[in-house]
Amino acid sequence: MPSNCSLNTYDTRTTILSNEEVAEAHYLLRCECAEIAQQAHPGQFVHVMISQNTGMLLRRPFTIYTVEGHEITMLYQIIGDGTKQLSELPRGAPLQVLGPLGNTFNLTIESEPAIIVGGGAGIASLMLLAAALRENDIQTFGLVGAQYRARLLSVSDLESIGIVVHIATDDGSIGYHGYVTDVLADLLSETKWHRPMIYACGPHGMLTAVTKIATDFKVPAQIAMENRMGCAMGVCLGCVCPVRIAPNHMEYQRVCTEGPVFNATDIAWNVF
Ligand SMILES: Cc1cc2nc3c(=O)[nH]c(=O)nc-3n(C[C@H](O)[C@H](O)[C@H](O)COP(=O)(O)OP(=O)(O)OC[C@H]3O[C@@H](n4cnc5c(N)ncnc54)[C@H](O)[C@@H]3O)c2cc1C
Ligand code: FES
Repeated sequence: MPSNCSLNTYDTRTTILSNEEVAEAHYLLRCECAEIAQQAHPGQFVHVMISQNTGMLLRRPFTIYTVEGHEITMLYQIIGDGTKQLSELPRGAPLQVLGPLGNTFNLTIESEPAIIVGGGAGIASLMLLAAALRENDIQTFGLVGAQYRARLLSVSDLESIGIVVHIATDDGSIGYHGYVTDVLADLLSETKWHRPMIYACGPHGMLTAVTKIATDFKVPAQIAMENRMGCAMGVCLGCVCPVRIAPNHMEYQRVCTEGPVFNATDIAWNVF
């Protein structure tokens, strides 16, 4: 189901237009990358050189969150040194951005409603998709999970494009008290749709739960994987993930080139 994209990739030297904290430990970075913006499709990512001066050789991957004209944004969580350094870069700082990379979510107008399920910063991988779904007039539900209220992301961005948002927090500080996957299961059991489609991104445990729910309810699900990456060009094999290509046959596929989007039920979750 996920689509391959054989479009051009650009390594763009740009400068940061803004880089602001939008929730606790989460930043929204905006920069001008005209070619990347023109070619970007939902689910695709960029590989960002954060600093050439600090010995941080490896780039870091981030999904393209939004595209507006010649500009793209990335919504990212501070995880370790790279994202911490990125969060400290001011407006005007130089940035090297390679992209767009990877395959894309496949949105078919026959599949409705679309249910997008984002756990934590995983919602960042679903925003461009959400916009495309709404542009195609596809009814879309946004299920957004966070640890607690201060870490909740993207709700107003989703609502501003006409998406009905359901919130879940681990501590119940806002929305449903529990996992966003409980909300998904409730939504699917409340209404029997003809051809719904789930799109999800988030922590490993959340994605295994989404896969189980999708299987139980017989609903197709596309998920974006966020494995650690080295080259992001299909060379180092640092990002591979186990994929079932036939009932008794599994192979390792590269998240950076064959992914990041996979059919949930193709992933061999028990092999990780
Ligand atoms: C295709 C793709 C798209 C992504 N999109 C986004 C996005 O839009 N927003 C966002 O916030 N993040 C995204 N990520 C994850 C992001 O790339 C990592 O959080 C980032 O590279 C961490 O870099 P760091 O230097 O801060 O942490 P590091 O110092 O590299 O790592 C710190 C700790 O976090 C762990 N870690 C690092 N990366 C990952 C990972 N991918 N999965 C699990 N554990 C990890 C490490 O094992 C280590 O323990 C994406 C990843 C991929 C592969
Ligand atoms: S990151 Fe090198 S092959 Fe995917």
